[in-house]
Amino acid sequence: MKKPPMENSALASAYNYAAGYRQRPHTLDATEDAIELRRKFCIPTPQTGRNGSDVILDLIAAAEPGLVGNTDPNFFAWVMGGSHTTGVAADWLTSIWGQNAAIFQTSPAAAIAEEAVGAWVLDLLDLPRDSSVGLVTGATMAGFVSLAAARGDVLARAGYDIEECGLQGAPLIHIYLSEDAHASNLAALRYLGFGEANFVYIAADTQGLMDNQALQIAMKKQIGPKIVIATAGHINSGGFDDMDAIARVCKAQNAWLHVDGAFGLWARLLPEKSHLTKSIDMADSWSVDGHKWLQIPYDCGFAIVRNAQAHRKAMDISANYLNRGPHDGRNPTEYNPELSRRARGFAAWATINALGREGIVTLIERHCACATLLQKRLAGVSAIQIRNHVELNQIVLRVDDCDESTRMLAKRLNIKCGTFVRTTVWRGETVLRISIIENNTDIATIIKLADNIERLIKADQCE
Ligand SMILES: Cc1ncc(COP(=O)(O)O)c(C=O)c1O
Repeated sequence: MKKPPMENSALASAYNYAAGYRQRPHTLDATEDAIELRRKFCIPTPQTGRNGSDVILDLIAAAEPGLVGNTDPNFFAWVMGGSHTTGVAADWLTSIWGQNAAIFQTSPAAAIAEEAVGAWVLDLLDLPRDSSVGLVTGATMAGFVSLAAARGDVLARAGYDIEECGLQGAPLIHIYLSEDAHASNLAALRYLGFGEANFVYIAADTQGLMDNQALQIAMKKQIGPKIVIATAGHINSGGFDDMDAIARVCKAQNAWLHVDGAFGLWARLLPEKSHLTKSIDMADSWSVDGHKWLQIPYDCGFAIVRNAQAHRKAMDISANYLNRGPHDGRNPTEYNPELSRRARGFAAWATINALGREGIVTLIERHCACATLLQKRLAGVSAIQIRNHVELNQIVLRVDDCDESTRMLAKRLNIKCGTFVRTTVWRGETVLRISIIENNTDIATIIKLADNIERLIKADQCE
């Protein structure tokens, strides 16, 4: 192959970036950054073409000041993964190969890679092996796909054909979810034509999880089609709904149970977390990310549906020119909402292959051990209050039970310690939520973080 002219600048910059991530600045002043980024990106519409190498150099110069260090072990701000290098290599090949993972015939390799990854995901998560798996952009879309299948299926159980008759005029579907469920579920439901009239918010406990008693009472009040959305890994607390109890209620009520397990579902690989993940396989559908705990490069999520027929009915795109050949393999478009799409199975296949089951277990165990260590260290700091039951990788804390002191600690960690943290508001309080999920974050990183927090709190007390 002829060497592409932009190869040197793109490759060199990639190596530099990967090698230097530990030194990357972690603080962003959003206002100044936006001005600087606009100055370089928002130039007049290019009228004539330019040399590719020059363009790539300009892109690097424009983007680098605004890149966020989420591939750095000291990144704790959001529940985001760090892009495994093997997945990145596969992602580069995906771009070079330029495959369209629409149907089997547009890329047999991409279609079968997705089939293989789907089978691995079911095996790793120990979910019903005949479930169908759609490779989507992330957990929001995985929720969308799963809930589309749920919508069609619960209406079919009520004798209504949504494909034939549409949503208008359909029986009212009640959808039960925690008042503290992840916002992406509500977004997915809105895309599917649902609104507040459909939602039944169930009171949440201090960890954001559903009160089972309240769920049971609420479900008994309504007749007709029902969908329940449970959480495996709450965005703040990392907590799990009581899957066993919820699955039983759903069965009794003939309701579809969907599990939002964007990151937490991977805890199912850990025997020591089985008290959290027990009976998760009793659900009807599951959404889980590849680009969070699994470190598959963005974007990657899995929509998993027990009833493959309901999944296909909700997603399939049919047209004469897309007809299957008699010997074709799986058509990816039957399981996700797009036709032309990136062949995201290659990066997923490569990352899972590089980690293996043992690698995934080690990664998740390490992050959970990091969270437990941090909790233990901070439990000895009287100014700090921990707001969640630390079972997974999330720690939610407050300083002096005061919004301003909590914000101050976050600011100082970012400015003085090379850490990237963010505060959020949860249950009416400003809290510092530390998400331990980046590929390279280890015990040494957490000891340094704990030392820094202790030092900053002590310095504050002396001031
Ligand atoms: C519990 C939960 N559900 C859904 C999502 C949405 O996932 P994504 O950003 O991959 O669409 C997130 C994101 O953090 C999450 O934590």
